[in-house]
Amino acid sequence: MKAKMTVNKAFTVDKVDPRIYGSFVEHLGRCVYEGIYEPGHKTANALGFREDVKSLVKELGTPFIRYPGGNFVSGYNWQDGIGPKENRPRRLDLAWKTMETNEVGIHEFAAWSKEAGTEINMAVNLGTKGIDEARNIVEYCNHKSGSYWSDLRRKNGAEEPFDIKTWCLGNEMDGPWQMGAKTAAEYGRIAAEAAKMMKWTDERIELVACGSSNSEMPTFASWEATVLEHTYEHVDYLSLHVYYGNRANDLKGYLAKSLNMDNFIKGVVAICDYMKAKKRSKKKLNLSFDEWNVWYHSNAQDEKLRKQDPWTEALPLLEDVYNFEDALLVGCLLITLLKNCDRVKIACLAQLVNVIAPIMTEKGGDAWRQTTFYPFMHAANHGLGTVLTPVIDVPSYSCEEFSEVPYVESVAIFNEEKDEVVIFAVNRNAEEAVEMDIDLQGFNVTGINAYSELSGFNLKAANTKSSRDVKPNDNATAKVAGNTVSANLAPLSWNMIKVAVK
Ligand code: AHR
Repeated sequence: MKAKMTVNKAFTVDKVDPRIYGSFVEHLGRCVYEGIYEPGHKTANALGFREDVKSLVKELGTPFIRYPGGNFVSGYNWQDGIGPKENRPRRLDLAWKTMETNEVGIHEFAAWSKEAGTEINMAVNLGTKGIDEARNIVEYCNHKSGSYWSDLRRKNGAEEPFDIKTWCLGNEMDGPWQMGAKTAAEYGRIAAEAAKMMKWTDERIELVACGSSNSEMPTFASWEATVLEHTYEHVDYLSLHVYYGNRANDLKGYLAKSLNMDNFIKGVVAICDYMKAKKRSKKKLNLSFDEWNVWYHSNAQDEKLRKQDPWTEALPLLEDVYNFEDALLVGCLLITLLKNCDRVKIACLAQLVNVIAPIMTEKGGDAWRQTTFYPFMHAANHGLGTVLTPVIDVPSYSCEEFSEVPYVESVAIFNEEKDEVVIFAVNRNAEEAVEMDIDLQGFNVTGINAYSELSGFNLKAANTKSSRDVKPNDNATAKVAGNTVSANLAPLSWNMIKVAVK
């Protein structure tokens, strides 16, 4: 099969905001406890954080982490997690039916983030709490000194503010599963008032309002419109969440799910722009896709665990073991986010460690990379610069949800600082390799800097405690003739081609 991608230096989508490679740490399962934090582990530092996990986080390259939830945040009292650890309360977490010890709170997470080289995307509780708590936490984290909350932070050991720039106004407030769930009008009002007070406390911050929990929610679209009716002028981003699964074991349909993500993004952009027109606003609202991933492998197991062992600390919930086909879909989803980077400025792979995560740990043991680690690592570390508008000529197939699914999903990014064009491509074809020509118009191609591919594995092959075979081959090759790069994309493959240009 043959394909051709044409890009031109002059035709661009936008610059990639590095926060598009965000991730997510929720007080859920073993993400914090036994994940990033395990005092007593042989690699734990003085604060109890695992150095082996931290070095995998650095390798993954995520620069931005949403915290502390998720569903958890809607019942969270952030003041439980400050002050001497021995005084911190043990609380029932009603979101996940587990026990929260509060050993890790904002000070510990801020210290960890600094060490890991990541920025915090902080969510506030608009479920069981309200506008007063929301403005107080901004003052606690960001005000320098001389006020009640900032001086309490200093007394608790942080002389300098945490300076958190991005804040989420609650989480999935339309979901009946959410503590303190609200109607769109109820949420719109409280979000607008919280936003005003949070920005009055620190005018430098940016705010994310909750969109629907997913596009299948019965109130999808009207929720967004009502929420924006109240919040449009007060917030900077609207959130989107989505999780996919291959429950029907239908590979073609599964790998086409990135088209579903693309439609979702385009739909939410349309609602934002409708509200812009309706309000005669000068402001363009962008998107924060602050939860996305594959999530289904662990569903049945989780139901059992929560019934058997409620109110347990670090219950191993949402521990999806990802396989090769999941890595291919994650690759397609990353490419989709990049293709929409003119409006998607923030995206968070949910989550980071153990909980539907690219990194897994064993208590007292090893940490390892899941299959999905690799496309994310490639994108986060190398997919920076300006996305070039891709024109792709490639045969397509049909599946139940879509009549035209291109066999190749692909994008090219020009990194001006490195004189490099980086191409990401997924070949969805299980039977045939795709001979792909990439015409880099307006560039002077001088060679191939690197070509890494993930291919040739059984679709269900996974990395586990005992086998870590699913990993990229860094020695793939591509040819250059004039301005055209030719690559042979193996059947079912994720590809990263780094092209040297002048
Ligand atoms: O990421 C897991 C959960 O999925 C989050 O807590 C919630 O926001 C979403 O439903």
